[in-house]
Amino acid sequence: GLPKYVKIVEVGPRDGLQNEKGIVPTSVKIELIKKLVSSGLSVIEATSFVSPKWVPQLADAKDVMAAIQNVDGVKFPVLTPNLKGFEAALASGAKEVAVFAAASESFSRSNINCTIDESLQRYRDVTLAAKQHAIPVRGYVSCVVGCPVEGPVPPSKVAYVAKALHEMGCFEISLGDTIGVGTPGTVVPMLEAVMAVVPLEKLGVHFHDTYGQSLSNILVSLQMGISIVDSSVAGLGGCPYAKGASGNVATEDVVYMLNGLGIKTNVDLGKLMAAGEFICRHLGRQSGSKAAVALSRS
Ligand code: HMG
Ligand code: MG
Repeated sequence: GLPKYVKIVEVGPRDGLQNEKGIVPTSVKIELIKKLVSSGLSVIEATSFVSPKWVPQLADAKDVMAAIQNVDGVKFPVLTPNLKGFEAALASGAKEVAVFAAASESFSRSNINCTIDESLQRYRDVTLAAKQHAIPVRGYVSCVVGCPVEGPVPPSKVAYVAKALHEMGCFEISLGDTIGVGTPGTVVPMLEAVMAVVPLEKLGVHFHDTYGQSLSNILVSLQMGISIVDSSVAGLGGCPYAKGASGNVATEDVVYMLNGLGIKTNVDLGKLMAAGEFICRHLGRQSGSKAAVALSRS
């Protein structure tokens, strides 16, 4: 049956803003995160400690972290692609980090400039260092159903990477349909393959809405027992290496669906919408959340 509670991992300030063409001022990022905190979200991915040459949008990671140091009761994981990023994150006060591998070689190369196995070796170094500092590490697998270069990705490849991340000590594995091509038809066999090698309660799903399939994909994931869902306020985001890929599933749409199913999230939809309106006003565009657009009209 369906879970009674779903943990939402808000990725808008990271996955969303990393893909904005313009650079969002640090003060706006901080205000966005504070508004997201007030909505009741318990996990908000705040930023990334990656190369500023690769992702100039998040070059202010240190300043963002400094501004949220005193916010209690919420986890603020940050992306760390290597030991250099881990050390910078630690020095900036991060208490949780995330590593990100791909299930396709081409995407691994274009996103982190190394092979899948090289990335897994780097992440073993990161998880080892994190263990010494008692820092929990989340693991991402991207391109879990499709790759912008290689096309369909076999479930066995996803299971291989997810298992490796689990074995090196990641407390949670987020399965990302980075380019949003999945349907329940491809997501279910992928989840079955991963569930055969990683405990169900450690798995989260991360969908992008390029083809409008996110909520269907989330629903089948919940029906298979998954209770961790990544989403992005106002549907912020995209993917710089995947032409036309749109943002993450909107957090407002996820909360609206979960409310309808009677599944607890502890998120206040009205306050969440206020956070979405704030960032959309700043970006000068309409929300990517259908629920937010409909509710703000009514
Ligand atoms: P590289 O060029 O191969 O790295 O990049 P390198 O080790 O050769 O170093 C080159 C330069 O980068 C050096 O500086 C390093 O010091 C510096 P230089 O000597 O030229 O001045 N450098 C760093 N600087 C800051 N922080 C660091 C760092 N590491 C090296 N951590 C690297 C390799 C991994 C660094 C690069 O490719 C990179 O930063 N990639 C990140 C790309 C990224 O953030 N992508 C988006 C996130 S993944 C995603 O969105 C998918 C997900 O949402 C799931 C889904 O949607 O499915 C998670
Ligand atoms: Mg993503």
